[in-house]
Amino acid sequence: MSEPAPSKRLFIKTYGCQMNVYDSERMADVLSPLGYAITDEPQGADLVVLNTCHIREKATEKVYSELGKLKEMREEALAQGGARSTIVVAGCVAQAEGEEIMRRQPAVDLVVGPQAYHQLPELIARTHRARGERLSADFAPEAKFDALAPTARKPGGVTAFLTVQEGCDKFCTFCVVPYTRGGEYSRPVETVEAEARELAAQGVREVTLLGQNVNAHAGEGGLAALVRTLARIEGLDRIRYTTSHPRDMDDALIAAHGDLPELMPYLHLPVQSGSDRILKAMNRAHTAESYVRLIEKIRAARPDIAISGDFIVGFPGERDGDFEATLSLVREVGYATAFTFKYSRRPGTPAAAMPGQVAEAVKDERLARLNALLDEQARAFNAAQVGKTLPVLFERKGRHPGQLVGRSPYLQAVHALAPDRMIGQIVPVRIEEAARMSLGGVLAKELESV
Ligand code: 5AD
Ligand code: SF4
Repeated sequence: MSEPAPSKRLFIKTYGCQMNVYDSERMADVLSPLGYAITDEPQGADLVVLNTCHIREKATEKVYSELGKLKEMREEALAQGGARSTIVVAGCVAQAEGEEIMRRQPAVDLVVGPQAYHQLPELIARTHRARGERLSADFAPEAKFDALAPTARKPGGVTAFLTVQEGCDKFCTFCVVPYTRGGEYSRPVETVEAEARELAAQGVREVTLLGQNVNAHAGEGGLAALVRTLARIEGLDRIRYTTSHPRDMDDALIAAHGDLPELMPYLHLPVQSGSDRILKAMNRAHTAESYVRLIEKIRAARPDIAISGDFIVGFPGERDGDFEATLSLVREVGYATAFTFKYSRRPGTPAAAMPGQVAEAVKDERLARLNALLDEQARAFNAAQVGKTLPVLFERKGRHPGQLVGRSPYLQAVHALAPDRMIGQIVPVRIEEAARMSLGGVLAKELESV
């Protein structure tokens, strides 16, 4: 388990009936994994929640008068150099009046109705982000990217990574990224293009566009348009991108896989689970069925595409049947490669507080079964290349004398006996052997001359 979340103070004032008392406890529960501990006075609290009652007009007026006091308290604290508290209105007044509350009392940061309490961690994180963007100058994504960019290049290399997007707005309930990295931010197309041109001028033949949600790239025309722009750059022959979210896999990007030869036939598209119940608890916003349909659509555009995925076993509440559903999804999709994880409880995420945490031994057993199946698929995918001639971009010298190592379009490592001058060239290689992680072959030209 990872480090405990830093301690923050939460004050909840409950008005009205037993239902609200119960709801306040639930709110405290979903907020505790974010590091919020209950305090019994509003002074000095980082988060103040008024869980309101709408039963009489007088009750509603009491809420506004309380909000007025909280506003003053916050102003005083700020004047004394204290931290800014976040003010949330929940309960029945929130339900009934919604955003109107913020118009009447602008000190309110967030209004949340009883149907949305499970989303409180996400809503509060979004509120903090929005405020941070307005108030603080210390997050300047462009400057940060500029500082990061040179380290992402391997000098003299044939391939390079190019960060085009950062952050995440998806709030999968197991994941810390939306809390630690902030919202989705896309680098402007012109900046990315300029950098890609520079890389190509330095001899880079293949770029991998990076982003936590790379296919959510917000440039005009989305990631598809960006990829098409980069494909026109002289010398840049191969483009890849990772990681994608099923939600942002739009038709334009799928079409690009069908008609753009520079876009490599490899797609990392995490699914996490094959059980709709678990996917819902993960807040993935797709079902097993919609994911499988999406893969079918992608394969209709590019039949030979290699599909890769991420999987989590042992998410809270995962039962045998849910895990079996994951195995059947894997059988249905057929993966070229995959990354598998045992669910790990991350303080600060909603899933950390969910009931039904799965025993370590069960996770181990499920992981082993999933890995065995994915291994079998990876071997089959590689074995299917034997006898084919693939264009290989040679990247560097191999382990054995005279050998070079490169990549197939499907991202498989390929080794072959080849002269050093072929580093940086795309060369047809006839595949003769396949293992779990790599392929071996012979230069197709040499075969012809025999
Ligand atoms: N436990 C296990 N796996 C996780 N991932 C992210 N958060 C967790 C977690 N708490 C995995 C997901 C994601 C990949 C990058 O890491 O599968 O797609
Ligand atoms: Fe975002 Fe990926 Fe984390 Fe989900 S798993 S919240 S999509 S970074």
